[in-house]
Amino acid sequence: MRSFNRPADRHRAWLAAVGVAGLMMVTGSAPGLAQNAPDFAVGLRIWTVTGNCQQCHGWFADGLKMDNQMPDGPNLHDTQLGREEMIMTVKCGRPVGGMPAFEKDAYKDGRCYGMTAADLKAAGLVLYDMGTLRDEQIETVVDFILAKFKGKPLNKAACIDMWGGDRVTCRDLP
Ligand code: HEC
Repeated sequence: MRSFNRPADRHRAWLAAVGVAGLMMVTGSAPGLAQNAPDFAVGLRIWTVTGNCQQCHGWFADGLKMDNQMPDGPNLHDTQLGREEMIMTVKCGRPVGGMPAFEKDAYKDGRCYGMTAADLKAAGLVLYDMGTLRDEQIETVVDFILAKFKGKPLNKAACIDMWGGDRVTCRDLP
């Protein structure tokens, strides 16, 4: 597998994400900020492997799912959700709609939509089980989606930016 994690690529991804203003803040007087930079290489890995998001949403989050047996994950380039709503969606899933819940205790104590596993069962709702992610993994993949997919075009430049480097899969895109 080719490495998308070369320092130059990561640096470019980081510049794209924070923009010039953010960069000046980071290189200026607030060294601590750099540590909170979203780690897009980790986000990419969660998107494609750890969370298996691409199975239903497609690797480019364009709604062209990788696995025919899976529910139709929507195109996330068109999503209207903000960061907090998106974190909530990934944690709790959508009991109606086919989006899995990735938080371990999502339906233990009513923190998700005020429902417990017993409520879901009584309502005949079955959530897809795709494993769980830790809070920081959920935040990392959401930051990845916000930076790489939401509002971005489905073109070659965005594809290369997503992988952190050129890929064969990007070549046929406009
Ligand atoms: C089993 C298939 C499946 C998997 C795996 C999956 N999703 Fe989804 N996802 C869906 C479906 C289906 C919807 C639409 C649910 C609905 O209709 O409300 C959705 C909706 C979403 C939404 C809300 C979009 C919006 O604008 O309302 C986000 C964000 C999202 N998924 C992110 C993720 C992330 C991140 C992962 C991986 C950690 C992931 N999904 C894994 C099927 C999946």
